Amino acid sequence: MAPSFTDLGRILVVIPTYNEVENLARIVTRVRASVPEAHVLVADDNSPDGTARVADELAATDDHVQVMHRLGKEGLGAAYLAGFSWALDNGYDVVVEMDADGSHQPEQLPLLLDALRNADLVLGSRWVPGGSVVNWPKSREILSKGGNWYTRRALRIPLQDATGGYRAFRASTLRALDLDGVGSAGYIFQVDLAYRTLAKGMRVVEVPIEFVEREVGDSKMNRKIVSEALWRVTVWGVRERVHQARDALAERRERN
Ligand code: GDD
Ligand code: MN
Repeated sequence: MAPSFTDLGRILVVIPTYNEVENLARIVTRVRASVPEAHVLVADDNSPDGTARVADELAATDDHVQVMHRLGKEGLGAAYLAGFSWALDNGYDVVVEMDADGSHQPEQLPLLLDALRNADLVLGSRWVPGGSVVNWPKSREILSKGGNWYTRRALRIPLQDATGGYRAFRASTLRALDLDGVGSAGYIFQVDLAYRTLAKGMRVVEVPIEFVEREVGDSKMNRKIVSEALWRVTVWGVRERVHQARDALAERRERN
């Protein structure tokens, strides 16, 4: 029997899609089986492969499935921001991020939801003990571990996997963040939101997940996404240090 999470309130799983026609039905079916009370919102960026048509068919036969039709490919961050704002407008209490390609296993969603009982944001983490990655090329592992190492150093945050995209927010967490001020379009959106949540003094918990590389379709990761990530983290890191120096100076002046 599936565990119950009704104590957490109404749960929405947001699945952003761009050309996931072969993956979508399977992932939605798995979510519905794993956590039957959860609702699903597919946020599609007008995929040329007809993903939205499959999404509409799923929605037509299941009142727990909704589709957001977006005009074009604007990036993962933009799709999630639209999904979050829909979730808040529609009275959801928990908002989950999940990839469409099967990398984030719906069967592990109960682990994230259970941890959310004592957290404001739960990150599914590949790089904490017990976490793992299946079928990733070495190059991708180096990029992810290196990116997380740089992020930890630059932003001075204690997260092992700030770039991961399998997570659960309380709606109250999202409401406390200035979502209108988020400019991150690509995958760095993930770091941006984790960083903002920590900056508000809220509780971020990492739970180990097994990330399984997609078998069907292509990753949308590209050079532009990586370079946006690199420059944004660098700018935030510099800003962090400027603020710290300013605070230290003000403190010294006060003492004198
Ligand atoms: N709507 C929309 N618009 N969806 C998008 C876009 C976009 O511009 N770009 C990607 N997606 C969707 C994909 O269709 C998929 O469902 C999900 O976002 C993840 O895309 P992938 O291309 O499969 O990402 P990945 O496997 O390379 O990267 C994963 O790991 C990254 C960090 O290591 C994801 O989990 C990322 O979120 C994560 O940052
Ligand atoms: Mn993927």
